[in-house]
Amino acid sequence: MEAEGQRKKEAIPLLTPYRMGKFHLSHRMVLAPMSRLRSYNFTAQPHAVLYYSQRTTRGGFLIGEASGISDTAQGYPNTPGIWRKEHVEAWKPVVDAVHEKGGIFFCQLWHAGRASKYEYQPNGHPPISCTDKPITSEAQIDGTTAADYSPPRRLSVQEIFQVVDDFRVAARNAREAGFDGVEIHAANGYLVDQFLKDGVNDRRDEYGGSLENRCRFPLQVVEAIADEIGADRVGVRLSPFADYNDCGDSNPPALGIYMAQELSKRGILYCHMIEPRMITQFERVETKSSHGPMREAFKGTFIAAGGYNREDGNEAIANGNADLIAFGRLFLANPDLPKRFELDIPLNRYDRSTFYTSDPIVGYTGYPFLDQTP
Ligand SMILES: Cc1cc2nc3c(=O)[nH]c(=O)nc-3n(C[C@H](O)[C@H](O)[C@H](O)COP(=O)(O)O)c2cc1C
Repeated sequence: MEAEGQRKKEAIPLLTPYRMGKFHLSHRMVLAPMSRLRSYNFTAQPHAVLYYSQRTTRGGFLIGEASGISDTAQGYPNTPGIWRKEHVEAWKPVVDAVHEKGGIFFCQLWHAGRASKYEYQPNGHPPISCTDKPITSEAQIDGTTAADYSPPRRLSVQEIFQVVDDFRVAARNAREAGFDGVEIHAANGYLVDQFLKDGVNDRRDEYGGSLENRCRFPLQVVEAIADEIGADRVGVRLSPFADYNDCGDSNPPALGIYMAQELSKRGILYCHMIEPRMITQFERVETKSSHGPMREAFKGTFIAAGGYNREDGNEAIANGNADLIAFGRLFLANPDLPKRFELDIPLNRYDRSTFYTSDPIVGYTGYPFLDQTP
């Protein structure tokens, strides 16, 4: 007993409890949202039940993969949707499995915007965006090239209202599916980020130009969703420093701080920030930039993501640089990541070649737990 008490006292910072609004988390290691491209026909599949439940701990917080909010939202094959009744029904057993193991589960709401192509759009139409400028830079989020994307069509103001409403309905659907809340995907060069960044947003109306105007659509989405399901169930993911999908900004700190302040005013549950060091989605670089001022500006829970391991995750929590740390690739390859961090033992290596393949087991539910490791 004594030894156990001793161990508990010495819990590493990542494994200490944290209260996120109404949610009592038993530790601070979050499953980062990760598209796995195994949701055939844009619908969550039974194998997702096992995948998410494998990564659930009692009191752990999980963010589901990007889920399309409407029939124009998709940009890749086999990503799940949350806009139709059948999508909601398909998510239910997945959410139930996470809840049965005591996890807290949010749905990431996503619209790809111009990071899409004709084949994923209704009737083969152009993808939609704030702009009609196509993606031109060569290296993209998953190694595809600019040539893979179709030129987008610029949304009218009336249509922007419709997209805001699509987000609202998707949030309601997520709650109906049983999710505890939603995360708005406003990062990584997808639709919401396209509005935010001056490298893409070239509008001359009230949705473009000044920082305030560029943040108008994202904040309208936040407000519509908060009205629908409550601000205490809404998080927002941002990547002001990144330029994935050819989506960069000339002044990332100003953008990040402004958004953090505006989100704070609206009382949303958490702000989830991708580290400035993640200059590309998977490459960590040295940088003097920091999300510190954004952490300062946001009064709710602050989640940091991007390139974290056991050591710097613990440091970030201990220094107060973040309340929670989201782990992507390490959690993908280690379903029992919190346990492995607790015991400080070696991790399974992730296999990048199977991140986005469609097999329901290989590279997905097939990564071994500790007690299955030979
Ligand atoms: C296979 C894969 C899929 C991803 N899909 C998403 C996604 O759907 N939504 C999102 O916001 N980020 C997505 N990301 C980014 C991760 O959430 C995370 O920010 C990134 O992997 C960096 O964190 P890490 O170093 O802990 O892996 C994805 C990453 C990977 C590896």
